[in-house]
Amino acid sequence: MRLLVTGGCGFIGANFLYAMRQRHPDWLLVNLDKLTYAGNPGSLRALENEAGDRYVFAHGDICDRKCVTAILNDHKINAVVNFAAESHVDRSIDDPSPFVVTNVLGAQNILDCARRAKVGRVVHVSTDEVYGSLGPTGQFHESTPLAPNSPYSASKAGADLLARACHETYGQDIVVTRCSNNYGPFQFPEKLIPLMYAKATKGESLPVYGDGQNVRDWIFVDDHCRGVELALLKGRAGAVYNFGGASEMKNIDVVRTILRLTGQDENLIRFVADRPGHDKRYAMNFDLAAKELGFAPSVSFAQGMERTIAWYQANSVWLDEVQSGAYLTFMDRWYKERT
Ligand code: NAD
Ligand code: TYD
Repeated sequence: MRLLVTGGCGFIGANFLYAMRQRHPDWLLVNLDKLTYAGNPGSLRALENEAGDRYVFAHGDICDRKCVTAILNDHKINAVVNFAAESHVDRSIDDPSPFVVTNVLGAQNILDCARRAKVGRVVHVSTDEVYGSLGPTGQFHESTPLAPNSPYSASKAGADLLARACHETYGQDIVVTRCSNNYGPFQFPEKLIPLMYAKATKGESLPVYGDGQNVRDWIFVDDHCRGVELALLKGRAGAVYNFGGASEMKNIDVVRTILRLTGQDENLIRFVADRPGHDKRYAMNFDLAAKELGFAPSVSFAQGMERTIAWYQANSVWLDEVQSGAYLTFMDRWYKERT
């Protein structure tokens, strides 16, 4: 396999590259990443050192047709996994434009370039958030109507529909995956778990939106990566597959877990103004992925959190490195407005 992975310097992309290198050492892995604030080439240092000419990094934008086409042709790529995205809901509320550019136009460009270059398969990585929000019961199925509530999820839903259209119109080999909330090593500290870890270890207050009763279905990142790998190798062209962790948790309970694992006191918790349009609950039905791909999450929330916190404790240099000025400017302003 000669695989192009986009967004490989981000959280899930980096974990995916390490997993593919370990399980398929003969594959050529090409990583195209724009290195936005969320992209950290340092996350791949070990891979770079170890993989030799089996790993290539290309600094570029998935919206750039010339750049993407050159990579596909020069490296004779036969499959693409598109992780590249603007991925943070709060940032999309603050400014939706970059989300539409990368998540919609960039995804379309990947599909177009792949078709023209006759790439075998594109796996487009999407999210459960395209389905909107659930009440206290029920689950999202692949047939659940798309009803995104944030600019982020709307842009992801737009790309999912373009992927569907490319399959229907051109017969293009595209598989769409939709996964629930990931956590694990290399996650940027603007998302709930690493953000709360970073704040707890500094003894800062932990900003919980609203009443903290919103529910997410947490999946350890390795399990998501395994799902994407299965979709790449065994997925049906034109199919959509849901992946989930079967680990529904209220935000407040996630935050309490982090405080317990870091030995910090619960009086650090601070309830702040709710996120506008905040989805109440996500829960994934992944029966289709289980049946057609053999997918099953293998890491429990308790195990995954222990591994995650241990990773952040052992990698404080990584955490310091990614907390740059640009990151702080946005986050400081965002939290000031909410408290
Ligand atoms: P991330 O924000 O950590 O990483 C995104 C990466 O994409 C960064 O390295 C960034 O530099 C790169 N990038 C952004 N714009 C680009 C562009 N125009 N061209 C090239 N590279 C660009 O995101 P993540 O959490 O790793 O998510 C990866 C994918 O998985 C996204 O598509 C996201 O929607 C999806 N997803 C994420 C989750 C989650 O819980 N994090 C859950 C389900 C699906
Ligand atoms: P997040 O990690 O941003 O993922 P998503 O919005 O894609 O689900 O947030 C997870 C949950 O945690 C979500 O319900 C919002 C909540 N949250 C807080 O309560 N405080 C915070 O500072 C952040 C970043 C999130």
